[in-house]
Amino acid sequence: MSRFQGLKVNASQFSLMGEPFRILGGSIHYFRVPRAYWKDRLLKLKACGLNTLTTYVPWNLHEPDRGTFNFQDQLDLSSYISLAAELGLWVILRPGPYICAEWDLGGLPSWLLQDKDMRLRTTYPGFADAVNLYFDKLVSVIKPLMVKGGPVIAVQVENEYGSYAKDDEYMPFIRNCLQSRGINELLLTSDNWEGLRYEGMEGVLKTINLQRLSFGAIQHLADMQPQKPLMVMEYWSGWFDVWGEHHHVFRAEDMLPVVSEILERGVSINLYMFHGGTSFGFMNGAMDFGTYKPLVTSYDYDAPLSEAGDCTTKYQLLRNLFSQYHNVPLPEVPSPQERRAYNPVVIQQHLSLWDSLSERPVNMENLPVNSSNGQSYGYTLYESTITSGGIFTSRNNIRDRALVFVDRHYVGSLDYKTHELTLPDVKGERTLSLLVENCGRVNYGKALDEQRKGIVGDILLNHIPLKEFTIFCLDMKPGFMKRLINSGQWKSDFKSSSVPGFFQARLYVDGAPRDTFIRLPGWGKGAVFVNGQNLGRHWSIGPQHFLYLPGPWLRSGENQMIVFEEHQADDKILFAENPDHGKTIDVYKLPFCTLL
Ligand code: GLA
Repeated sequence: MSRFQGLKVNASQFSLMGEPFRILGGSIHYFRVPRAYWKDRLLKLKACGLNTLTTYVPWNLHEPDRGTFNFQDQLDLSSYISLAAELGLWVILRPGPYICAEWDLGGLPSWLLQDKDMRLRTTYPGFADAVNLYFDKLVSVIKPLMVKGGPVIAVQVENEYGSYAKDDEYMPFIRNCLQSRGINELLLTSDNWEGLRYEGMEGVLKTINLQRLSFGAIQHLADMQPQKPLMVMEYWSGWFDVWGEHHHVFRAEDMLPVVSEILERGVSINLYMFHGGTSFGFMNGAMDFGTYKPLVTSYDYDAPLSEAGDCTTKYQLLRNLFSQYHNVPLPEVPSPQERRAYNPVVIQQHLSLWDSLSERPVNMENLPVNSSNGQSYGYTLYESTITSGGIFTSRNNIRDRALVFVDRHYVGSLDYKTHELTLPDVKGERTLSLLVENCGRVNYGKALDEQRKGIVGDILLNHIPLKEFTIFCLDMKPGFMKRLINSGQWKSDFKSSSVPGFFQARLYVDGAPRDTFIRLPGWGKGAVFVNGQNLGRHWSIGPQHFLYLPGPWLRSGENQMIVFEEHQADDKILFAENPDHGKTIDVYKLPFCTLL
């Protein structure tokens, strides 16, 4: 028998290399952890007693513009998987193409929505053709890492399609996308209790996602799939947060008995997340079960390893538990990293939003930005000329939020809840400006096809549609920020009321840079950039009141910090050694339905 016998499911236990095998897995997303920390996080995963790394693959980052692929640096998937192999871990890949994951549009590229008839997650040709081209590239990257030459023992087909199930041909199509390109490893699907209804596919193992056992989900899976190994593909170690609500915690005392029971019943498990990390930049997703709710930047998830890589109490307790499933002592836990609360830095320069606009107006979604891929993330400014005041109505065509200005004076904001504003009376021609923010596309549920952003339909002044917009793309990507920095328009005399605008400060790091948490009390809402890296969004409504700044993204000496602020600026930026998660809520106290 070949020593390369992959993961097999012919009995009630998995076997690997011909031996019985139990998957003790943990999810860490390479795209949510600075590359310099991949090794530290994987060593901690191994030292916790886990034998398998699982990760999603985000299509939107790997193909930012149609036909342009990026598998380099922070997105070097191949190196990430190889590193796991070097450390003695197996890998389960979850390449989607839809991944959910609290990630913008569930990981699908926004350029797919340029097609007004798009039907995401179906065999609609416009979607299927794009998947085929992406999988040509993706499979060429992952194929050498399959178990015959690498550590990948299984590949997941799509993600929780049972809860979506819009097209019966779609799952066989995705399975075929993998198999026809030479992926011969075990394939599996992953569904929550509700999604298990989906019939499944010949030769593809079903697994389940859950947090509580009280609903008999594992038994249900066993009944559906007798004489097959059972696996909880996502054991939710915590939960994610939305702006304006509480930070979710899942107490170790509640979690441990459940994990113990899963193990005692001989079931395989993957901790989702083992380490959540950060949805850096504008990559957060959103929820929409009737009300649109954008997610925060931190993806701490109350997971065993915190956002900054600290081993929590949960980690220690799980390590004790998993150690009982090993014949040899577990490796030592790597020592904690030092952190620093740098001294506050003072804002030195300011650039008004109005001075940041490029001379040449850049047109909207379907116009020639990003090599005709449209704008994906960030802010867009729409300007039009008006000759009167009156009732201004968005008809809910603003996605997701707009600050409204007349002659660059703020007059109010519009969003999902507020659709109407009274504009002051004006005489002669005035400029109406709408600064529209894409707060994150929904990543779960039926509304995926409706995630176009910006102004998506007519908006009216006194019942008449506004026309002839000048549109500026403020995507805040590295190229944009570079142009800004060199714009020559920065001023050192400014007021903190000079918003919206960009505020610049210098952080001087003495010695080796360390991780830190940025704190912005006294600021309102916006995003923070350090040495050109977009760290994510800040918003005073919380619950997140910090932004994680990884040491490797700082340099010894001078560092450039820019805060983009919409509402209210302060004259300084603060730092802390630890995060402030704000008000918390225990997930065990939430009704089950919110955790489907
Ligand atoms: C589901 C999805 C994951 C994630 C979790 C919640 O199980 O499969 O991608 O969204 O929910 O964190």
